[in-house]
Amino acid sequence: MTSTVVVGGFFGDEGKGKIVSYLAMKDNPAIVARGGAGPNAGHTIEYKNKKYKVRMLPSAFLNKKTRLLIGPGVLVDPKVLFNEIKEFNTSDRTFVDSQCGIIEERHTVEDSSGRLKSSLGTTGSGTGPANAERAMRTLKMAKDINSLALYLEDVPHAINMALQQNDRVLVEGTQGTFLSLWHGTYPYVTSKDVTASAICADIGLGPKNVDDVIIVFKAYVTRVGTGPLKGELSPDEISVKGWKEFGTVTGRLRRASEFDFDLAKRSIMLNTATQIAITKLDVLFPQCYQKTSYDELPDNAKRFIKSIEENLKVPVTLIGTGPDVNDIIDMRQSKNS
Ligand code: GTP
Ligand code: IMP
Ligand code: MG
Repeated sequence: MTSTVVVGGFFGDEGKGKIVSYLAMKDNPAIVARGGAGPNAGHTIEYKNKKYKVRMLPSAFLNKKTRLLIGPGVLVDPKVLFNEIKEFNTSDRTFVDSQCGIIEERHTVEDSSGRLKSSLGTTGSGTGPANAERAMRTLKMAKDINSLALYLEDVPHAINMALQQNDRVLVEGTQGTFLSLWHGTYPYVTSKDVTASAICADIGLGPKNVDDVIIVFKAYVTRVGTGPLKGELSPDEISVKGWKEFGTVTGRLRRASEFDFDLAKRSIMLNTATQIAITKLDVLFPQCYQKTSYDELPDNAKRFIKSIEENLKVPVTLIGTGPDVNDIIDMRQSKNS
């Protein structure tokens, strides 16, 4: 197995950042490549009592040996990218494809007002307006921007060469399945498809070269911004359950509902998931906190995991039990995947 794609199963913010960070450190891939929309994504990663927030770089920067690539389907905001390269000191191993579209100031201005903000509740990061221009074929690309010259790479070529040499490639999806422009709750969606097929197209990985698709579900569902959310809880109910969360990019309070098996089933179908990662199990069952083996979990938590496997017919191989990258139960070996 050499290529693994990680995608979000609900509305984004499932905790993909932590899962990708863990896999990057555990499996040591030669490349971690980012697909998805652009800097509308936000990931919070906690490692050894430090918190890191990223919007552009792949969430694998904690592994200093891994090359961090951004595929041509991803929009780049150079300001956000340069800040992160500096903050995480990744200048020598960050590369963007020369065909990445570029977000300019006017895109973020347009995205922060009018219908996009008030009705759709976008992140204001400029991705929608920039993708609209990409469709009109007027958008600037990375190769048109002088300051990016040192970081340009043919990302599809690099990925496919690595796979030919039997090197591991980890692919990071962003957003979540029901934010997809094709498969989500239109018009309350992001500006492109974000299911596994699209994430692979974003980085130039053909469908026959994918070995595993890990779908990430949080133990409950959250959604930030507008659009339908079946079984939505009131802010008071969310507080009582201890599910209060704020968006990484916008700081908005996240809406929430219980784990939704119907949505999860559809998500498994759309992404051809081969493995499931469940995050925040400890938030649902506090006795799970920081456990690293399945046997240590309380019975109610085991029943929850079993019900997911029985309903969705896909093995749960990774379970998040706390905020740190290493607060995780890794059952990939024992489940023979
Ligand atoms: P993606 O956008 O999917 O990458 O997720 P996100 O980073 O936006 O997700 P969110 O903000 O919900 O999760 C990030 C926060 O939750 C970080 O502070 C993580 O450390 C923490 N977190 C991730 N997984 C777990 C888990 O299994 N248990 C607990 N308690 N915290 C977690
Ligand atoms: P846009 O992608 O900024 O255009 O926003 C469109 C919708 O997708 C809004 O509801 C956003 O809140 C949501 N969205 C976009 N990216 C993310 C993400 O990474 N996590 C959660 N929601 C997102
Ligand atoms: Mg997020």
